[in-house]
Amino acid sequence: MEMDKVIGKILDGYQPACVVMAANELKLFDQLKQPATAEQTAKALNLDPEATERLLNALTSLEIITKENQTYHLPETAHEYLTTGGGHSLQQWIQLSADLYPIWGQLSSFIKSGILIKSIMEMLGGDSHKMRAFTDAMHDKALKATWMIAREIPVGDAKSMLDIGGGPGTYSLEWCKLHNHLKATVFDIAPVLEVTKNYIETYNLQDRVETKPGNFHKDDLGDSQYDLVLMANILHMYDADMSKTLVAKAVKAVKPGGRIVIHGFCTDENQTGPLGDTLFSLNIGMLTEGGRAHPVQEKIDWLKEAGISDIRHFRVDAIPTGVITGTRPA
Ligand SMILES: C[S@@+](CC[C@H](N)C(=O)[O-])C[C@H]1O[C@@H](n2cnc3c(N)ncnc32)[C@H](O)[C@@H]1O
Repeated sequence: MEMDKVIGKILDGYQPACVVMAANELKLFDQLKQPATAEQTAKALNLDPEATERLLNALTSLEIITKENQTYHLPETAHEYLTTGGGHSLQQWIQLSADLYPIWGQLSSFIKSGILIKSIMEMLGGDSHKMRAFTDAMHDKALKATWMIAREIPVGDAKSMLDIGGGPGTYSLEWCKLHNHLKATVFDIAPVLEVTKNYIETYNLQDRVETKPGNFHKDDLGDSQYDLVLMANILHMYDADMSKTLVAKAVKAVKPGGRIVIHGFCTDENQTGPLGDTLFSLNIGMLTEGGRAHPVQEKIDWLKEAGISDIRHFRVDAIPTGVITGTRPA
């Protein structure tokens, strides 16, 4: 592709994202479960009719909604993803992207100073509504990954699992749903676990999924206790030294003969791909002190140093893509 087209395509990138984020914020998708004209939609949501029509036309161009005889409609197949209460709702995920959008606007400041723009814990910690929304977004995002990883790794061989920084507990819940002899412990900070408990109830897995409050930097995670230990989307929050320490702690919790799984953003060796991971490394750099999408080989080395063998790395068609797993020698 010629350079002007390449750059033009890149520059267009944020505009479709803004269209989807605005529609999500304005609850347009819920409204369009019933076919309606732009005027009817604007009236129902108290919006400007002409501007609403432009947004609806753009959503139609993006093939998210349809337009027939001036009537717009969200197709049935999109309901579960885009409307409130949908089984695979992406609403919280879209909202999270909207929250991050102003941070990306300050990318050049981060590049100049190397100093984070806003702490993610500051963004979430002080606001229980945002913390819940973030945890819900984690759940929306993780579902596909849990299924894809379970296809590649024999998670069903395990009877006990520790989900470190498990957030909503999606991996534990989905894997326990798949394997009825598996029991899981979701370890996270107490306020997040209040959200986790709701998910456990929704899955009706109170008898096999428990929560354990704590701080994984300070508290013990167990000694040779679990058949399977998972760290999903944790290590990117910390620099290499802290991540390595956490990995060693997680490995200690694995029973001899058991398995550790690290799922998360990780760049390839020369750190120029995959694209999602290089972009994420910028994103998390602006939100944490020292966090990054650590390269695959670095994570493998941490596992090796902690005594893990049979290490395997693969990518799944989900977000994020990187999975590294290995076993603790018996
Ligand atoms: C990015 S989320 C990942 C959630 C989940 N593992 C997933 O992939 O869907 C990171 C999680 O780590 C938890 N966390 C952060 N610092 C922690 C700490 N010091 N101790 C325990 N949990 C922590 C957060 O509360 C959050 O739920």
